[in-house]
Amino acid sequence: MVTFDRIETLKGSVTVPPDKSITHRAFIFSSMAEGRSVVLNPLMSRDTIATMNAMKAVGVEFIKLDNGFEIVSKGYRGFNEPQDVINCENSGTTARLITGLFAPSGRYVVLTGDNSLRRRPMDRVKRPLQTMGADIRLRSDRFLPMTVLPSKMHPADIMAEVSSAQVKSAVILSGLQLDGYTSYTEKEITRNHTETMLRDFGADIMVEGKKITVRGVKNLIPQKTTVPGDFSSAAFFIGAAIMFEGAEIKIRSVGLNPTRTGLLTVLRDMGVQIETELTSSSAEPMGDIYIKHGRLKGGKICGEIIPNIIDEIPMLAVLGLFAESPLEIRGAEELRVKESDRIKSVVENISALGGEVEEYPDGLKVYPLKKLKDKEILLKSFDDHRIAMVNILLSKRFGNISIDEISAIDVSFPDFLEKLKDIEVVVA
Ligand code: S3P
Repeated sequence: MVTFDRIETLKGSVTVPPDKSITHRAFIFSSMAEGRSVVLNPLMSRDTIATMNAMKAVGVEFIKLDNGFEIVSKGYRGFNEPQDVINCENSGTTARLITGLFAPSGRYVVLTGDNSLRRRPMDRVKRPLQTMGADIRLRSDRFLPMTVLPSKMHPADIMAEVSSAQVKSAVILSGLQLDGYTSYTEKEITRNHTETMLRDFGADIMVEGKKITVRGVKNLIPQKTTVPGDFSSAAFFIGAAIMFEGAEIKIRSVGLNPTRTGLLTVLRDMGVQIETELTSSSAEPMGDIYIKHGRLKGGKICGEIIPNIIDEIPMLAVLGLFAESPLEIRGAEELRVKESDRIKSVVENISALGGEVEEYPDGLKVYPLKKLKDKEILLKSFDDHRIAMVNILLSKRFGNISIDEISAIDVSFPDFLEKLKDIEVVVA
């Protein structure tokens, strides 16, 4: 059980950890390239270490540098067969991307994960890869542990069944290894790091609207990747600025890929003033974010923006407590199969605070908070890093709130508490 003292507000400048999605991809694509790649400023957290270990298990070498790794590989066609089960820990991105990576490899690979990951659906990645000829077996036809068996795969045109950058990436990673053209048509546009980064590694990838076409290549070309700050981690400071009166925060060197920054659009539409300044404008743009506390109108969020705010919804939903009118989020049923059922997790915690909230199969509606419960309040983190961080902010905002557990923050933001401390203004 953890409790925090109430703080007055947050003022100052912070950096956030390197981007989790980009780090996974930098480790995987560098491992696929034949030769020596470099990844600078990678996120070293439970999730990304799981990806690094998976790559080591097939014979890729990671040599530690001052601020990252040199990655030495014989290329994806020279991968060894792993000698043991690969543990993807808590990381859906690891499990789903490497399924696509290994499916055409002709190797026998077994994947598993922690309690939370073993409850998350993997059939979404099995089905499209099976259409391409993969031989993948799942527990109860849906869950890890998974066995990937040697098979003869072929290119195909795949239509997305769910909006998922992980599934899209798995199909692209298989397609890249097959002779001919594989296409994947999204339901809604999801984060596009795989497409933008693979192009740098020499892949032939065409994007027309929601359709991505990839041509098989024999080799990827080694690259140097510098990982920007994680927008999804920055989201907790953006949210904090709305929760704490008087807050003024600058978040430096954050990845501002437009497929990730939907939260800025949503909040601006609800009246919040947020400024961004680009400091680097490559395919993965990076910049600073400035936000000052201000009023939040509330409103309804749904449709194509949902995949671009998917990881930020736990933070956004809780901001409904601080808005002028209810905040409703719909079309977000994917939240039910994240690290926890994030709709249920947020609904339970808002209720525990004494807030009013309606739960729907595909979202929730949060009402402005009238009165905090005067009994003892216990928030639960459900083994979910993003829920744990929202709870920490709530606890510091109101004081006298207990949280059952916060160790899950290691998954994406191990030094969250230190970073908060740096800009906290304590109660006088
Ligand atoms: C991710 C894609 C998203 C996101 C996850 C990271 C990625 O998952 O929620 O945190 O790096 O591709 P889905 O593909 O399940 O939407």
